[in-house]
Amino acid sequence: MEIDGKICVITGGASGIGLGLAKALLARGGQVVLADINIARAEAVAEELGPKAHAAALDVRSTESFEALAAQVFSSFGRVDVMVNNAGVSGGRGLLDTPEDEIDWVIDVNLKGVWRGTSVFGKRMREQTTPSVICNIGSENSLGYISRGLGIYTASKHGVVGMCDVLRHELPAHMKVCVACPGLVASDLTRSSTQTAPRPRLNEAQLDMSDRVMAMGMPPEEAGEMIAKGIEREDFIIPLHAHVVKIAETRWQEIADSFAAHAPYTPDAEKYNVQAIIRQLMSEKD
Ligand SMILES: NC(=O)c1ccc[n+]([C@@H]2O[C@H](COP(=O)([O-])OP(=O)(O)OC[C@H]3O[C@@H](n4cnc5c(N)ncnc54)[C@H](O)[C@@H]3O)[C@@H](O)[C@H]2O)c1
Repeated sequence: MEIDGKICVITGGASGIGLGLAKALLARGGQVVLADINIARAEAVAEELGPKAHAAALDVRSTESFEALAAQVFSSFGRVDVMVNNAGVSGGRGLLDTPEDEIDWVIDVNLKGVWRGTSVFGKRMREQTTPSVICNIGSENSLGYISRGLGIYTASKHGVVGMCDVLRHELPAHMKVCVACPGLVASDLTRSSTQTAPRPRLNEAQLDMSDRVMAMGMPPEEAGEMIAKGIEREDFIIPLHAHVVKIAETRWQEIADSFAAHAPYTPDAEKYNVQAIIRQLMSEKD
């Protein structure tokens, strides 16, 4: 999709990757709505970015909030061409010790928040019938990268890929789905996650260390450029960090080895393939 003249909405667009992507989309001639729980920052950033950037308040934990945003955007612009569900939090600790309300919070923002934006905007984009793209932000943790202490975060990001994989086969031809899967990007993620967390996860010393790690990440502008290119190409997976391919290959090799040991492919293997069974039953009905 060519971005020039397109209407783009980015959740969590006030900072980090969302902001980097906003800059890349603006540079390509798009109009960008920065929808964020931190409305003060969204407004300040939109002011800096110029007249084609617009700030809006949004809490991705609320369907009503998404409905209000969609009503506002569609009444101002009449359509949305690119919907980016980017807002996320990085909560979590050792899986056995994660309290349930922390699990609910991470899933509510990172998985259900992505679903809410996809559903509320996607239904309207389906009606539009003009070409459109939904780009959801996963992570290298969607592709097999292991980060100890981020078990629920990882589950949420696997969930984003799984959901989008089905979605792309459910949507009409004029709609495409992308999942961007960044590795380390220099952002406020650990700090901004404290905005809505049920309780502090890291003490000041740990936050300080995490700031130093985050600062070593890819610049958000570079990440934004890569994601914008992926949206232009309408690729399903948009990888950003080259080292992750080795991890994905190792994961695939482990799966392939397990199949070879337990369930090697044989000519009659399709007899339990649900899709093949449904096709056969449908053809018998006709
Ligand atoms: N930074 C990384 O290393 C990295 C790596 C992989 C994936 N990601 C993903 O990229 C996305 C963006 O993260 P980032 O690194 O730019 O972090 P960030 O904290 O800089 O940006 C996140 C933005 O989302 C907003 N936000 C948080 N909760 C919200 C809510 N309930 N409703 C609306 N807005 C909300 C924040 O205010 C913030 O502006 C997240 O989904 C994150 O999981 C980040």
